[in-house]
Amino acid sequence: MDDFQLLIDLHKHGHRQGPGGDRETEQALNLAMVDRTAPLKIADIGCGTGASTILLARLLKARITAVDFLQEFLDVLEVRAEHAGVADRISTCARSMDNLPFGDGELDIIWSEGAIYNIGFAKGVADWRRYLKKGGLLVASEITWITNSRPLELQRHWDSEYPEIDLASAKIRVLERSGYGPVGYFVLPERCWLDHYYRPLQERFADFLKLHGNSNSARAIVAAEQREIELYERHKDYVSYGVYVARRLG
Ligand SMILES: C[S@@+](CC[C@H](N)C(=O)[O-])C[C@H]1O[C@@H](n2cnc3c(N)ncnc32)[C@H](O)[C@@H]1O
Repeated sequence: MDDFQLLIDLHKHGHRQGPGGDRETEQALNLAMVDRTAPLKIADIGCGTGASTILLARLLKARITAVDFLQEFLDVLEVRAEHAGVADRISTCARSMDNLPFGDGELDIIWSEGAIYNIGFAKGVADWRRYLKKGGLLVASEITWITNSRPLELQRHWDSEYPEIDLASAKIRVLERSGYGPVGYFVLPERCWLDHYYRPLQERFADFLKLHGNSNSARAIVAAEQREIELYERHKDYVSYGVYVARRLG
């Protein structure tokens, strides 16, 4: 089994595949001042197993296209949507986020939690803009420095993992330059990383290793996840996800 398949296996049983929280998804919805009674058309891009998709379907009167390039995550999402009684409002779409199936001006809202980094924030916001109606909303979370300076260990890690990491002011500037009017921004609190993502992930390590016969590749994946968790725990005062809400102008 290759490493990619192992990663899918480790993450597909999680409620979320990255930092976030139901309360924070709803907070973003409130910040965006979304009309909960309007028949909206939404795309949730990089939806994973659908924590945000299903919550949005429950809170809004919307039709949501859940996009992820991993069919296995979408399969889990479909089962969860059925259990939540919102399957009739969600359709899944196994596509890459750099090749979306939408027409120009088709969407009221583009939602994307912890996923836009896969094509880069600047490219994502620029490329996705055309799918939004004029005045349509983009809600995206993105790894962000939350202080003006930080320890070298952390800086070096992110410089090699994702050089686009920056301060919120820089991310907001990217939005402004790409034809959006920023509406608001907030920082995901620590519980979104530890309680909603890392602790449940750690609780799955033992079963995951057992399932894969404690193979070298499975152990290497667990060790890498553990190193990432420890890095976050050491430096959580300096880095988080920012949640950005912006409106398409023009
Ligand atoms: C960190 S996870 C976040 C998932 C989910 N939004 C959440 O918050 O739980 C990133 C997601 O982006 C998906 N992804 C990565 N690269 C992608 C691409 N090029 N196109 C579509 N989805 C992609 C992954 O499969 C994964 O589900």
